[in-house]
Amino acid sequence: MPFEAWVEACLYDPDGGFYATGGSAGRRGDFLTSPEVGPLFGAVVARWLDDRWEALGRPSGFTVVEAAAGVGTLARSVRSALPACLEAGRYVMVERCAVLRKAQPTGDGLSSLPGLEDLPVREGDGLVGVVMANELLDNLAFGLLEAVDGVWREVLVELATDSVDPQPFREVIGDAAHPPVGVDPLQGSRIPVQAGAGRWVDDARALLSAGSVLVIDYASTTAALAGRPPGEWVRTYRDHQRGGPAVSAPGAQDVTVEVAVDQLAAGADFNTQASFLRANGIDDLVAEGRRRWAERAGVGDLAALRARSRITEAEALLDPAGLGGFTVLEWRVGP
Ligand SMILES: C[S@@+](CC[C@H](N)C(=O)[O-])C[C@H]1O[C@@H](n2cnc3c(N)ncnc32)[C@H](O)[C@@H]1O
Repeated sequence: MPFEAWVEACLYDPDGGFYATGGSAGRRGDFLTSPEVGPLFGAVVARWLDDRWEALGRPSGFTVVEAAAGVGTLARSVRSALPACLEAGRYVMVERCAVLRKAQPTGDGLSSLPGLEDLPVREGDGLVGVVMANELLDNLAFGLLEAVDGVWREVLVELATDSVDPQPFREVIGDAAHPPVGVDPLQGSRIPVQAGAGRWVDDARALLSAGSVLVIDYASTTAALAGRPPGEWVRTYRDHQRGGPAVSAPGAQDVTVEVAVDQLAAGADFNTQASFLRANGIDDLVAEGRRRWAERAGVGDLAALRARSRITEAEALLDPAGLGGFTVLEWRVGP
């Protein structure tokens, strides 16, 4: 089967896929994402949402669509930050896997859907608001091409029925295929084909009549990925550790890819996560946390501990070698 179909089955097969059977982000989950570090990330995102709402003239009915909402951790922290845009607005969590949707919070303007296509948006009557996704695009199924004798060829996965190997699946090279963007086929190099990520961005932009699509992910370009060993940019995770090869343990590990931004729609603004968070007031929130901690440390109550926690959360979220180095892409739509 094509590598893309393999990844799709490993992650989302209803009977055995990693996410479909309950794999998730979080301290108790399989890997840590920015929303799962703590509520600070959502508090900064809430400020950015209010900023966009103000820039659009404070529309009522402002809609925030969060795709890849998982168990709703970001939704909870955005809601706790009480952004003004949600007073007369709504927050829609979009999560593909039913088992994760079941754990999401409810009430207070929150709702939940399985896919963007389930949003009731009529042709020519788009949403005013934001469609955002943290670490979604790296988790959409992707194909792989390998350069063989000057030609890009598709990477396939087959069942090695002749093998006595305990690992029954292996990669094989298939037919010649067009690369998604022009990259020299240097012998043995590989590139990802991220048509699914490209389609998702196009669909998200098409939902809006005015507002922004914001995606946050680890990102690169197709040519840069071609110059690196594929084992570096196709990564697997399980129980907070790197997993095995992508063709091993189907459904038991997360399979992710660095996002080749040149395979997405043009016209985005680029930022690092650290500069995005700074531009949206993370330093003020941390300073406020320090002040409150200084006042309440003696009391040692929950409010004091939350204030203290902002300092360590910010360190993780801003770390240039970690989450702070992620790429934030924003496409603005309409006025
Ligand atoms: C790496 S997790 C990120 C979860 C969360 N955004 C976070 O940062 O902690 C990716 C999530 O995207 C979900 N997902 C995959 N494809 C999706 C799609 N087309 N629409 C909505 N969610 C999707 C997966 O089920 C999974 O829960």
